[in-house]
Parts: sequence; structure tokens; C-alpha cells
Amino acid sequence: MTRAISLQEVTKVYSRDVTAVDRLSLDIAPGEFLVLLGPSGCGKSTVLRLIAGLEEPTSGTLLLDGEWANTLAPGDRKLAMVFQHYALYPNMTTRQNIGFPLRIEAPHDNPRPRVEEAARTLGIQDLLDRYPAQLSGGERQRVAMGRAIVRRPSTFLMDEPLSNLDAKLRTRLRAEIATLTRHMGVTTVYVTHDQSEAMSLGDRVAIMRDGVLQQTGTGREVYQLPDNVFVAAFVGTPRINLLRATVRAPLGGRMSIDFGPQRIELPHPLSPEHQMLRIQMGREVTVGLRSEALRIAPPQHMRPSEVLMNGVVQHVEYQGHESLVHVATGARAAEVEGLEAPRPEPRRPRASRREAARSGRLGRLLGWATEREGSSSVATLERPEEETGRPPGTLPEGMVVRASAEMQPRVGEHVPILLDLKQLYVFDDAGRRICPAPRRLPDLEH
Ligand SMILES: Nc1ncnc2c1ncn2[C@@H]1O[C@H](COP(=O)(O)OP(=O)(O)OP(=O)(O)O)[C@@H](O)[C@H]1O
Ligand SMILES: [Mg+2]
Repeated sequence: MTRAISLQEVTKVYSRDVTAVDRLSLDIAPGEFLVLLGPSGCGKSTVLRLIAGLEEPTSGTLLLDGEWANTLAPGDRKLAMVFQHYALYPNMTTRQNIGFPLRIEAPHDNPRPRVEEAARTLGIQDLLDRYPAQLSGGERQRVAMGRAIVRRPSTFLMDEPLSNLDAKLRTRLRAEIATLTRHMGVTTVYVTHDQSEAMSLGDRVAIMRDGVLQQTGTGREVYQLPDNVFVAAFVGTPRINLLRATVRAPLGGRMSIDFGPQRIELPHPLSPEHQMLRIQMGREVTVGLRSEALRIAPPQHMRPSEVLMNGVVQHVEYQGHESLVHVATGARAAEVEGLEAPRPEPRRPRASRREAARSGRLGRLLGWATEREGSSSVATLERPEEETGRPPGTLPEGMVVRASAEMQPRVGEHVPILLDLKQLYVFDDAGRRICPAPRRLPDLEH
């Protein structure tokens, strides 16, 4: 594969032992639009700064167009960066701001044609003689983009370029950015902590947590087949319902998943997607159910792939086109602090891994969980209130079920919930997805 950008086991340790990026390997194809997604502090900007040459990797290799580039000067990289705080020069007009990089790069050339072409591309040709103070936020962001595209870079690096704009403008500009970069054929690495932005923009999404790459794939892949519980919880609105449960196999009977006050039985024989539950017998797991895997309907409407649970309506969020119904089932919501996303295969002796696996809680025992001060797991997993509708740090008590807007359940009403087993996710105690079973089954030694 040709690669415009290739990071190979790249680590960045800042002073005072902050590992901002931990053995990250990622290949980006020419012309690809890759979104780096993850919570605040997970290392997204550091990755961009490494690609841009503003930081040097502590270890590992960075290749740009196949050439070793760890220490290549930023000016020799043919990259343009757009930041969240697009510092335009207040005493320069739009024309001067956009033309500024050319004045440095090619002081003897007339910048006019290229500035005007960039302005036309962005639809701001009428604003060329205005000063930043005379422009709206969206217009200023376009000028900042103009300053990036005027250099005709081979790669755009964008660090949350839209996050200080209002929601409507953000949606419009992000569609424009996607169209523009595709039209220009440039490789783009776009950083955001907004999962819906990531899903809607990129060819591929790379999800990071605590400096570690969790998963890379199309929006559809990371939504439908999250490798671990962190990705499952970070991607998708409303957030996936996560419940603590125990896998049970009564003698001679069907296997079941026990939520405490309620349990659901699995068909016999187990479907291929559920095969890995066999090795979890008697163990605690985390069950993930997206709101569309659940519906409120009478048992006689049950489809072959569905099973029944009982719930009590706690709260109804009317959304216009649908309602989100919060239903208590007695199941325990998985504590977010306890959910650890696995790290890449650590370079540690195998014996100690086995030992740790025997006593459970793989991640914690191996010290994979971050011990960085001030970055508790709750804070990193919880998405902003504007997106979840909940104050940060609080978990919903019940499950969220998607229902048609016509349905108007009353608070306190007992309702049957039909749960589609085809959409059942199960994660083991290290947070790895075991249902649906990974395509390549991991080694089942323990
Ligand atoms: N110059 C620096 N010196 C020391 N630590 C740093 C430095 N820059 C960043 N860090 C730390 O490295 C980690 C990753 O930071 P980074 O800015 O890459 O995160 P981010 O994912 O871009 O976060 P945000 O979404 O808040 O912008 C954080 O813990 C941060 O405190
Ligand atoms: Mg950042």
C-alpha cells in the first residue's frame, strides 16, 4: 500500500514522564481523510504535532511519502495546519492574511492569483478587503482555511478547527471541508473529540484513549464491531447501554445471561457470534445493548431472534421523530471506572501475563490502566453534557430504548422489552469484545 503518512510504534513522552502517545502505529493513504477521535488529553494533538514536525518522537518511526521524517524540519514537510484558535493577524485584511504564508515561502512572486483562487474556493472573495474584526466566526475560520490551502499542501492537519463555532455553522462547514479536501485530493488528518463529527466526516476513524490507539475503521465498522467496551461507549448517540451480568450454564439447560433480578436465555445451540461465551461461564461480563437493539412491544410480537425482559418506565425523552424511553430493569449499570480498554500487546514476559490472567482483571494487574493524576476513567469516558443530555459523571439508572414518537409510555408503567440477540454485545473483564465473536478468534489459552 502506498502511504502518505506512516507512524510505526511511535511514542511521545513529554517531560515529567507523561506518555502522550504510546506505541502508535497508523498508516494513512494518499488522499485519505482520517479522523483522530478521542476524549480530552488522549494525545490527538500530540499526534498531529508529531506529523507536523512540531514535536519529535521519543521512539518509533515517522514516514512521510515513504521517507524517514522523524527530524525533518516542519518547513520541509508540505503540510498545512489549521487550529481551533485560528490566530488571524488583526491588523491584516483577509487578502493579507491568506497571502501571508506565500510572502514567507516565495517573497518574489505575486501572491494575488493564488490568494484569489483560494478565496474563490472558499466562497470568501467578497471579503478580501475586510479585517478579522469585521468578519463572523465562520468567515474567520474560512480565512484560516484559506491561509492553509494557499500553500497547496499535500497534507492538511486540522486540530478541532470548528469547535468554537455554533452547531449549525459547524455542520455546514464540516460538509464543506470534506468536499473541499476531496476535491483538492489532499490527505487530511482531522482531530475531534466529537464522535458524530468523526463518524460523518472521515473515510476512516482512529479512536485513541490515554495515548493508545484503540481501533481504526470506517464509521460503520467502529459502530457495529467495536473492538472493546471503550470504543462501544465512545461511539454512538444515545450511548450504548452497558450492564453488568454473569454468564450461566445450568446443567443440561440453555446458557443464559444473568442480570441479577432478570436473566435472558440464549438459543441452543449457540450462534457462532455467541460462541465465546462458553469460556466465560460463571464470570462477570459487561453486556452492551444499543437503544435500537431494544423495543417496547408485547411478547406476542416477539421475533425469533428476540428475548423478553421486563422494565419500568423512568423517564421519556421526546425527540420529535422518536422518543428515548429510559427503563429500569433491575440490572446494574456497568461502572465506567471499572471498564478498561486493553492496551496493545505489551512487551512483557508471557509468564506474568498468564499469571495475571489467572487472577482476573488483566488490565489493572498489569498496570495498563492510567495512573495519571487527574484523569479518572469516568472523566475520560463521559461525553460532554451537550451530547449525552446528562451532567458529567452521572450514569443513567435504566436502559435507553428507542421508541416511535407515537408511543407515549407513562412514567412508572410496566413495559415488556424485546431484546434482539443479533445485536447483543458482550465484553470480557478486560473490556475486549467477545460477542459478536471477533473474526479472528484470539488465543483461548486461559
Ligand atoms: N508540552 C507538553 N508537556 C507535557 N505534557 C504535555 C504537553 N503537551 C501535552 N501534554 C500532555 O500530553 C497528553 C496529551 O495531550 P494532547 O494535547 O495531545 O491531548 P488531546 O487529545 O489533543 O486533548 P484535547 O482534546 O484536550 O485537545 C495530556 O496528558 C497533556 O497534558
Ligand atoms: Mg488537542
